[in-house]
Amino acid sequence: MRKPYIAGNWKMNMTPSAGAAFASDLARAAKEAGCDVKMMIAPPFVTIPAVLEAVKGTGIIVAAQNMNDHKSGAYTGEVSPEMLKDLGVNTVILGHSERRSYYGESDEFINRKVLLAIEEGMDVVLCVGETLEERESGRLEAVLSSQLEGDLKDVKASDMARITIAYEPVWAIGTGKTATPEDADSAHAFIRGRIAEMYSSDIAQNLIIQYGGSVNASNVKALMAKENIDGALVGGASLSVEKFLPIITFNK
Ligand code: PGA
Repeated sequence: MRKPYIAGNWKMNMTPSAGAAFASDLARAAKEAGCDVKMMIAPPFVTIPAVLEAVKGTGIIVAAQNMNDHKSGAYTGEVSPEMLKDLGVNTVILGHSERRSYYGESDEFINRKVLLAIEEGMDVVLCVGETLEERESGRLEAVLSSQLEGDLKDVKASDMARITIAYEPVWAIGTGKTATPEDADSAHAFIRGRIAEMYSSDIAQNLIIQYGGSVNASNVKALMAKENIDGALVGGASLSVEKFLPIITFNK
């Protein structure tokens, strides 16, 4: 059984004070509603400490949106996995399409971060997904394959329990366009199949694959009803209790 895993990626939103207030409201609302999904929120780096304090003891996972590919050193403006772990953060989102497109992150670079996160004992939410042009030119499967192979290079089977995949079609992120549940499910099935080939069918069966891209209160149920969709990585709709609560309680 794959437990539903719903994550909120706050992106560059929420100051420390606003984030802490929101996180306590969210934690309270989730508890009152009897939320029983695995829940994660990923605030900006500077907001993480205040949010950790606000959700202490609630079981909500606080993750980072990124990290550097080195342990320490002369990398101005960067944050290392050791710094995150020292705060109590053990989960990191890597390979988000905004990092790939705005900051030029390659699969090779993402792979170095994935390997370092694993070495540091952290869990990873690895984002993959195609652009509209790639989908329309029939390259969806080729793109997903090369991202999976590149990003997971040298990741051992025994470490795959640390990896969650988030399938996020780039054209659906922040645009209000969602992949249909059928299209999303077939991309997820393809990813699961590739993981079975790269690792084993057991590992593929246990792999949590989140869908991301304009997930909201009205489409979450149909998406989550699909066999291969095990969770969601939510951007815009994770920024208010009113919008996020129906998503984290989709199964109530
Ligand atoms: P969105 O973002 O829900 O605002 O489309 C999803 C994401 O980028 O993770």
